[in-house]
Amino acid sequence: MARREALILLAAATGRPQAGWLAHPDDVVPAGAAARLKQWVRRRRRTRVPIPLLTGRREFMGLSLVMRRGVFVPRPETEGLVERVEAWLARPGTGSPARIIEPCTGSGAIAVALARRAGARVIATDRSLPAVRLARLNARRQGVGRLVAVHHGNLLAGTGWAGRRGVDVVVANPPYIRAVDRVRLPPEVRRHDPAAALFAGPDGLGIVRRLAPAAAACLRPGGLLALEIGHGQGRGAKRLLAGGAWRGARVEHDLAGRERYLLATRTPSHSAPDRRDPTGGGPHPPLRTRGTVDKVWS
Ligand SMILES: C[S@@+](CC[C@H](N)C(=O)[O-])C[C@H]1O[C@@H](n2cnc3c(N)ncnc32)[C@H](O)[C@@H]1O
Repeated sequence: MARREALILLAAATGRPQAGWLAHPDDVVPAGAAARLKQWVRRRRRTRVPIPLLTGRREFMGLSLVMRRGVFVPRPETEGLVERVEAWLARPGTGSPARIIEPCTGSGAIAVALARRAGARVIATDRSLPAVRLARLNARRQGVGRLVAVHHGNLLAGTGWAGRRGVDVVVANPPYIRAVDRVRLPPEVRRHDPAAALFAGPDGLGIVRRLAPAAAACLRPGGLLALEIGHGQGRGAKRLLAGGAWRGARVEHDLAGRERYLLATRTPSHSAPDRRDPTGGGPHPPLRTRGTVDKVWS
């Protein structure tokens, strides 16, 4: 096990920050914590379970978020997506507080980080009920339960903003792995991340294909679309933004130099493509909404 991983587990098992153990590496680990640590190491070796699912915690943008089995564990590169949205919101002339929609929220990492750090009001959605429950818990624990409303729904369905052109930002880290790439995924991912969080059809762009026109129908003129994509999908993803609704469409790279972020702003005049379903979601599960759009955005 790598030293970095061992240190994360040691800190979580003992409830003492990593810096404390680095400063006093010879201190004795209390018996209860040592037993927990041993059990975690054994489980990790046996099942390759990701560390955040052992400790129940994940650091994201400096926030300690609760993690649970069955909900996607946020990845470090997604912090780059949040940073890009934050930088965009910080430009002069951008009204505040911003109105943001985040479909595919998972644990709520993006929504909670933007509410905490930028004071944004966020409507988040997810098709998975365990994810919706966890995102609500994280929003409450981070003290932004009043800024973040989480809907159980399909993409933009249930947000109340489809077709209204009043949203400042649509940001998402949707599923984007090609179905054929399943066998190549490391066991940590294949066994422990829910399939519905990973795969998006033959080219991995199935969700982006539905989300882009839905986002165009709810963003205000000049509003930002910011999506995480997979390496090698840049050209195909950018092509989905052709047709006049978007300007400045570009793909940016993560810290490892891989294609990772698709960014574009809504043109002022072009009307959204004529779609029968402007939510991108179609029929969606019954809504279990706490905190309505009006409560969050009034
Ligand atoms: C890659 S995970 C990202 C989670 C979180 N945003 C993050 O970055 O950690 C994708 C999430 O999208 C959800 N999802 C998949 N299809 C969806 C859809 N059509 N509508 C809403 N959520 C969806 C999955 O349940 C999963 O939680």
